[in-house]
Amino acid sequence: MTVDHSRAPVLEALDDYRRKGRLSFTPPGHKQARGADPAVREVLGDAVFHGDVLASGGLDDRLTRGRVLQRAQDLMADAVHAEHTFFSTCGSSLSVKAAMLSVAGPHEKLLIGRDAHKSVVSGLIISGIEPVWVEPRWDAERHLAHPPSAAEFDRAFDAHPDARGALVTSPTPYGGCADLQAIADVCHRRSRPLIVDEAWGAHLPFHPDLPSWAMDAGADICVTSIHKMGSGLEQGSVFHLQGDLVPPAVLGMRADLLGTTSPSVLIFAGLDGWRRQMALHGKELMGGALDLAAEVRAAIEEIDGLHVDDRDDFCGPGLSDDLDPLPGVIDLGGLGSPASRRRTGCASTGTSTRIWWTTAVSARRSPTATTGRRPGSCSRRCGTWPWPRGTSRGRRGWRCRRRRGCGWSRRCCRVTRSSARPRTCPWPRRPGGSRRR
Ligand SMILES: Cc1ncc(COP(=O)(O)O)c(C=O)c1O
Repeated sequence: MTVDHSRAPVLEALDDYRRKGRLSFTPPGHKQARGADPAVREVLGDAVFHGDVLASGGLDDRLTRGRVLQRAQDLMADAVHAEHTFFSTCGSSLSVKAAMLSVAGPHEKLLIGRDAHKSVVSGLIISGIEPVWVEPRWDAERHLAHPPSAAEFDRAFDAHPDARGALVTSPTPYGGCADLQAIADVCHRRSRPLIVDEAWGAHLPFHPDLPSWAMDAGADICVTSIHKMGSGLEQGSVFHLQGDLVPPAVLGMRADLLGTTSPSVLIFAGLDGWRRQMALHGKELMGGALDLAAEVRAAIEEIDGLHVDDRDDFCGPGLSDDLDPLPGVIDLGGLGSPASRRRTGCASTGTSTRIWWTTAVSARRSPTATTGRRPGSCSRRCGTWPWPRGTSRGRRGWRCRRRRGCGWSRRCCRVTRSSARPRTCPWPRRPGGSRRR
């Protein structure tokens, strides 16, 4: 059977509903915007209300004979190389719990990467599943976790052969990826399923230059948020299944157990439309995004004092196995700590030592910003932080080999002992301000 990705069953059914002027005797109460507060309609626009209908008895008939949702899910499964796909309107927070419950039950063990999202922890609390924590690879310099290695999962299975399966988060929000194929092999050697929390990886199937995605790597279940790295509406999540270790009916029932009986058709429409866009234009769009990400990374790298963590920083022994370059982490360490920037009168006085962006830009405060200590890093004498291991704050005789314009980074900024005089702060003074030491 040929699959036609130009179709979008949910959007088409919504369009049909509206063109035929249909109204329901059932919820939602607003009846295609008519009963809604005009002030709300003014802000939200009527399109929101037009798309807000019941899934069965609105979008489809009460017996879902049009198979609207099923057809949309089948198209999604085809687009991402899965055997079964389930839409969720409760975010990956629900999807990941449904996945966990379909693999293990109360008092049964599940191997879980310790860098799991809070929804995984909530899943443990409500299910009574016993976690066997698998340590991620901790990057002490950047204060972030890389996904656990396949060897770590192997060891955990050896120690807990009764574990029902494994759950790993990949990519991390910073783009670090696990070797999913190797972890899947570890699980499958024991006939155990692998769940991948791929909340940050919805875009991965659509370009060959992006890291391998869970279904291609042989995972059994994977969970993605379409509102994160895709353009779906908030709370739009899909989870996918393949292989015969988890029956589709069980996974569907677990989702039904946790989910709402009033799913938002607007969110379904966002998922459906995104799949169509990606199936038809994904490679071109993702190619453009990759080029843009490379440009942005290079431009930021040119800025004195900033460094964008790249493959050299993120991948290698004890780190991630692959990197998604679309998110990024900008190290502001070369600008000095917020306190030192204030002390020295620098114009650059933000509060972050690291900025993390995904598709949008958001700032993250590094734990080191509060302590001012990151042993072994830059200790420029312009009042910046942190001080090298074994030195006390303010001790003279330490400097870094920072070259202006080199893009401060771990590689080019090694701390060396020297009798050189303290360097002056290269950052501009505040208007009318003076630098104090
Ligand atoms: C790794 C991971 N898993 C699951 C979730 C939950 O996703 P959602 O916000 O779609 O419920 C998040 C949210 O940030 C996440 O980062």
